[in-house]
Amino acid sequence: MMRKIRLVAVFCLTALLCGCVTGTQPAVGPEEDKLIVVGFSQVGAESEWRVANTESIKSALSEENGYVLIFDDARQEQENQIRAIRSFIQQDVDYIVFSPKVETGWKTVLQEARDAGIPVIMIDRDVEVESKNLIRVYIGSDFHEEGKRAVRWLEEHLENLGRGDEPVRIVHLQGTIGSTPQIGRTRALEEAVERHPEWELVAQECGEFTRAKAYEVMTGILAKTKDIDVVYCENDGEALGAIDAMEEAGLRCHPEDGVIVISFDATRLALQYCLEGKIALDIECNPLQGPYVDDVIKRLERGEAIERQVVVEETQFDYLTTTQEMIDSRKY
Ligand code: AHR
Repeated sequence: MMRKIRLVAVFCLTALLCGCVTGTQPAVGPEEDKLIVVGFSQVGAESEWRVANTESIKSALSEENGYVLIFDDARQEQENQIRAIRSFIQQDVDYIVFSPKVETGWKTVLQEARDAGIPVIMIDRDVEVESKNLIRVYIGSDFHEEGKRAVRWLEEHLENLGRGDEPVRIVHLQGTIGSTPQIGRTRALEEAVERHPEWELVAQECGEFTRAKAYEVMTGILAKTKDIDVVYCENDGEALGAIDAMEEAGLRCHPEDGVIVISFDATRLALQYCLEGKIALDIECNPLQGPYVDDVIKRLERGEAIERQVVVEETQFDYLTTTQEMIDSRKY
């Protein structure tokens, strides 16, 4: 499976010439023949989570660990990702690792990778069902399950407060529309709203997984109503932006006597907010996927059978159980 890397110099040259490929510069020498060449197309750098994800891949697929990594940041543009994948195919890499912005629109380029005999490993986000036969393995989270855990916690929390039957007015800030985390987390909330006649979605808008956009969107929502019980944010950046907007508007964010803020990711800063009670619950989304990718590639290199899906391990944090020690010991 492992291709010999006479092309290493060509990779470097192409990277320099097209200016779109950055990352580890391969060593030139006898050892290079043993290195595995991986092209990695990352969706962007929209969140702390994403930065940690990129770092994890870069450090696991390092030269010391036997790899040449060609990294491309698509800056949130699907066309950039398609261009990067085509360039990886042209360079005849051994593997393509890829975190797509949205689930649709990949069939043609994935077929091109298949025709070139290059295995594609999806990380973090998945592709639509129709394209699944074109990828070797998906490594990432079960986003629907993450959402279901958030909703279960909210149901129990409202019960514990004695508010189980009362009306609940929910603001929903979504992530990038059409991305796997948005689809899964949104589905879980919408299913819960269906089950609970007393729950009302008073607003549902896209915060693009960023603090700035969520602040802007939340400020607009607050101009129309401040009668809000819960804000369900699809990542930490959005939670921080929504809290900024609510505090500016004079609202208190607290799980017992204020607006209940729910978030996903569990990055260090957001967990600090959790410790203060500003975020009630943070469902972890694990960005440390580099070791999983390394493991899958090494197993493929040994010719071992590989499952189609590897779900990463995740936990959750709420305002009652989070401690400073937990936060300090986190890697991101
Ligand atoms: O795809 C994972 C999501 O994308 C994370 O929840 C979010 O922070 C990121 O930008």
